[in-house]
Amino acid sequence: MNRRVFSFLTAALMYLLAVTMSTMAAGGATVALSAVQVTPVAPVQPPASGYVGEGTCLACHDDRSYKGTKHGHAFNERTPAAGQGCETCHGPGQAHVDSGDPALIRRPSQMAPAAVSELCTTCHNRAEHALWDGSQHNQRNLSCITCHSVHAPQGQIKAKTQIALCSSCHRNVTNRQHRFTHMPIREGAMKCSSCHNPHGSTNVRLLRAGTTVDESCTSCHADKRGPYLWEHAPVSESCVTCHEPHGSNNERMLVSKVPFLCQRCHVTSRHPPTVYDGYVLNNSQSANKISARGCVVCHQLIHGSNAPSGKAFLR
Ligand code: HEC
Ligand code: HEC
Ligand code: HEC
Ligand code: HEC
Ligand code: HEC
Ligand code: HEC
Ligand code: HEC
Ligand code: HEC
Ligand code: HEC
Ligand code: HEC
Repeated sequence: MNRRVFSFLTAALMYLLAVTMSTMAAGGATVALSAVQVTPVAPVQPPASGYVGEGTCLACHDDRSYKGTKHGHAFNERTPAAGQGCETCHGPGQAHVDSGDPALIRRPSQMAPAAVSELCTTCHNRAEHALWDGSQHNQRNLSCITCHSVHAPQGQIKAKTQIALCSSCHRNVTNRQHRFTHMPIREGAMKCSSCHNPHGSTNVRLLRAGTTVDESCTSCHADKRGPYLWEHAPVSESCVTCHEPHGSNNERMLVSKVPFLCQRCHVTSRHPPTVYDGYVLNNSQSANKISARGCVVCHQLIHGSNAPSGKAFLR
């Protein structure tokens, strides 16, 4: 009795083992087979009605290849090259190929800006690009191809440099790069997009970081972030009250020279404050308030102080 049960169990186990092994063998064979199959020279074009495949397009449009750009990386499954090729963006091309009629294929350069952007944002809809809809550039009818060219050999930006691109519309801003002090954009150490995200943002003025101008600046200048024991009101309000972020003809990109800058607000104080005051100029004791770096010779910690006696930002 026991023996019989045992041999039955053994048989059952052997059977299960055999089935499992044959399945595994079959699976192995499949893997081996597909390893041979999925090394095609051209990317696979899934059959779909109206699509002819990239090879056909290139037969007539060999000057329109996008190989060498990131869209041409067929190994990245999210690229057009891994999908329908040209027809990912230009739509199914059968009718156009049959007739040669350019009206029967999607031509982005003839489309409304919003429609072009919609095409691109089917893929570019995350991170950097998540806030395109409703952004200043979107609202003013720019589209992705105002700034980008899909068929350009490299870089995919329509101008040689970023600053040249922006200056086609924002000349008043890019011109400030030629002032005496400026962020090193002209020199190539920074870009407009270090501070701005041209694709949209949660901040004012398309600023990339934070939700206020200050948060944008302190994302790099962390030492100015505070909070301080003694805050200087205009600093916690907005850095651009005193600094011109695109360049100025004053030291430290200040909007005005010290002491005039300070005197925009501080018209009276316990020590004679204004340079217009004849008394200051005639009185050598007070002349130090306006000579050299002026007020900031003494009020060194102008951005805020953490010293218990730093109320006047002297230490
Ligand atoms: C048999 C040759 C042929 C094939 C294949 C072909 N085209 Fe064309 N295509 C043409 C001709 C001819 C024109 C009109 C050229 C012109 O107007 O300058 C044209 C025009 C176009 C235009 C508009 C060009 C413009 O300047 O307005 C686009 C976009 C285009 N084709 C894309 C494609 C795509 C994508 C494919 C593949 C699906 C494709 N073509 C396949 C011949 C072809
Ligand atoms: C990622 C989307 C995309 C892919 C992929 C793509 N194109 Fe384009 N194509 C465009 C856009 C956008 C334009 C408009 C011109 C510009 O700004 O670059 C354009 C322009 C063209 C034009 C000129 C017509 C016009 O509207 O100015 C032709 C012809 C063309 N493409 C053919 C092709 C062919 C052939 C392929 C495949 C080898 C291809 N395209 C792949 C987006 C794409
Ligand atoms: C089928 C999806 C898809 C579509 C549609 C598409 N892209 Fe892309 N694009 C990609 C992928 C994937 C990359 C590569 C991203 C990476 O490698 O980080 C890319 C990269 C880019 C880049 C960066 C190139 C570089 O050298 O860094 C630009 C610019 C770009 N796309 C613009 C566009 C524009 C403009 C359109 C619309 C005309 C468009 N894309 C349509 C998938 C797409
Ligand atoms: C006002 C000009 C402008 C417009 C409009 C614009 N871009 Fe850009 N884009 C840029 C600049 C400048 C960069 C380079 C950013 C950098 O180098 O940090 C860039 C970078 C990119 C990149 C590569 C950066 C990355 O994500 O890795 C992609 C992809 C891209 N843009 C797609 C798009 C798409 C899609 C649209 C339309 C929804 C669009 N752009 C509209 C100016 C623009
Ligand atoms: C084709 C023209 C064009 C190009 C190119 C362009 N812009 Fe703009 N930009 C505009 C327009 C139009 C507005 C909306 C201005 C307004 O509402 O007062 C705008 C708004 C902005 C704003 C927000 C201003 C505000 O008042 O909120 C910033 C920041 C900006 N652009 C930066 C850039 C940067 C950086 C580049 C280059 C990567 C660039 N732009 C390229 C046309 C352009
Ligand atoms: C150091 C960070 C920074 C850099 C780099 C920068 N910006 Fe700005 N940008 C700002 C800030 C901050 C504002 C908001 C100023 C304000 O509200 O007074 C601004 C505002 C703007 C505006 C709209 C308001 C105006 O002053 O007309 C435009 C357009 C603009 N920037 C374009 C550019 C361009 C183009 C570049 C590249 C040459 C660039 N920015 C580089 C920080 C920067
Ligand atoms: C992406 C990082 C970054 C952001 C954001 C940034 N800065 Fe700067 N800033 C720098 C770098 C890097 C330097 C050093 C430049 C040099 O050494 O030439 C600098 C230098 C400065 C200087 C000193 C210039 C001089 O002549 O010594 C001032 C003032 C300044 N930034 C103010 C600001 C203000 C105001 C903002 C916000 C509108 C801001 N920065 C946002 C990176 C940044
Ligand atoms: C009340 C006007 C005022 C405001 C507001 C202001 N600054 Fe300044 N900042 C100055 C003055 C004045 C100097 C020059 C100090 C000197 O020469 O010793 C300066 C110098 C700088 C410098 C270069 C020297 C250093 O200390 O590193 C940076 C960077 C800077 N400021 C960043 C900022 C940032 C970021 C903000 C906003 C959080 C800001 N400033 C707000 C007046 C101001
Ligand atoms: C945009 C206006 C503005 C500018 C520009 C400005 N300040 Fe101020 N400052 C203020 C305000 C507001 C207070 C806070 C006054 C209070 O609490 O009574 C203050 C406070 C001070 C204090 C401390 C006052 C106290 O009661 O102890 C000093 C010192 C000071 N500022 C110096 C300067 C210097 C030096 C400059 C130039 C580099 C300058 N400020 C630029 C608005 C400004
Ligand atoms: C030689 C050093 C020195 C210079 C230069 C200087 N201060 Fe002062 N300042 C002081 C001292 C010390 C105090 C503190 C006085 C006290 O607490 O009794 C002070 C206090 C202040 C206060 C706050 C107290 C009050 O009276 O309201 C303001 C505002 C101020 N200074 C603004 C300025 C401005 C604006 C300039 C440039 C025109 C300037 N200071 C230049 C040394 C200086």
